[in-house]
Amino acid sequence: MPNSSAVSGFYRMPLKDRLRFLAEFSDLAAEELNLLSNTGALPFHVADRMIENVVGAFPIPLGIAVNFLINEKDYLIPMAIEEPSVIAAASFAARMVREGGGFHTTSTPPIMIGQIQTVNVADPHRARLAIYSRKTDILEKANEQDPILVSLGGGARDLTVKTVHAPSGSMLVTELHVDCRDAMGANAVNTMAEAVAPLIEEITGGRVYLRILSNLATERIVRAHVTVPKDAVGGEDVVEGIVSAYHFAAADPYRAATHNKGILNGSIAVVMATCNDHRAVEAGAHAYAARTGRYIPLSTWEVNQDGDLAGSLEMPMAVGIIGGAISTHPVAKIVLKILRAKSANELAEIIGAVGLAQNLAALRALAHEGIQKGHMRLHARNVAIAAGATDDLIDRVVEQMVREGRVRADRAKEILEVLRKTTQ
Ligand code: MEV
Repeated sequence: MPNSSAVSGFYRMPLKDRLRFLAEFSDLAAEELNLLSNTGALPFHVADRMIENVVGAFPIPLGIAVNFLINEKDYLIPMAIEEPSVIAAASFAARMVREGGGFHTTSTPPIMIGQIQTVNVADPHRARLAIYSRKTDILEKANEQDPILVSLGGGARDLTVKTVHAPSGSMLVTELHVDCRDAMGANAVNTMAEAVAPLIEEITGGRVYLRILSNLATERIVRAHVTVPKDAVGGEDVVEGIVSAYHFAAADPYRAATHNKGILNGSIAVVMATCNDHRAVEAGAHAYAARTGRYIPLSTWEVNQDGDLAGSLEMPMAVGIIGGAISTHPVAKIVLKILRAKSANELAEIIGAVGLAQNLAALRALAHEGIQKGHMRLHARNVAIAAGATDDLIDRVVEQMVREGRVRADRAKEILEVLRKTTQ
């Protein structure tokens, strides 16, 4: 049995050799290897091109959120998520929002920022202005890297230069503003940033280190707002509770983090289902929430003059409908078809609307009956299955645990044992 993880050329091994190595190292049984290497709807050869050292695929449930009306258009929304209740909650919130006319969304052009860090500049103020004076040349160099993006109406549009005061001294940071059209754009932006670096060194006399996209996508923003009739939400009291929950989040970063986590429950599930980069969206969301120096909620809730609930959301949304895994993952391609999103902007707006819906559902539950009531039954199902319940025993174990108010692994096992004995 090998006990060293040092392997050379693991990526060159055929799948069966990778699995054999893994089986020996981790003592995996044949059925575990079968389960692991069953890549399901994602063929092995596709997975093997997406990432390195592939040994299988990791399935996450994909569900459909219903009732969404966004800018007068109906949507069925695929969401990939492991957490129970999220899809039911999104669908429930979308139904309430529908009664007030649905979601209204807008988004900025799909502009991403690429940063080029220059250090050891003797005269940074002169150098900064020198970069501006060569803006046309720099943008031209950037755009030479991606003629297809340029032909589609995208490309490097602008640049800005700032001085960053780091502990090690001042550095110049040049920021390329690139219209990525329907791509998320990380590859295009990084290629451009690397290509213009020698020119920046020549202009400044400094040394370029980092050339990389920023995930704080302040120029790629999605906005969504809703008005929900008070009766649809559950009355004045619930409206007050939701607004008060927002005030809590606005005043306390500990609550704001959880408030935003609720938004991301919805948004990230759609980002995942479309095979977009969820780490990029999460990093952008949290950095945007902290942009004032204090971490605040990404959404707001208030009462309008009719006593109805008005909600809004604003956050960066760096997602695409073409490129990378989005275009190769067979399920992601079907997800995009279900969504009927014709552009990256439309997808971004859907994801913003789902985030706002998810937030509304969570705040309503928290302000009204508490979050555990809805969660408990689904949680109990997972506990029952983990304890070994199958078929109709699952529901019977769930019923009993919920009735007793004891949803725990040990209790599930006890109930299961009794049920098995009595049904034998
Ligand atoms: C749980 O996944 C998400 C919530 O905690 C969000 C919130 O508290 O607003 C319910």
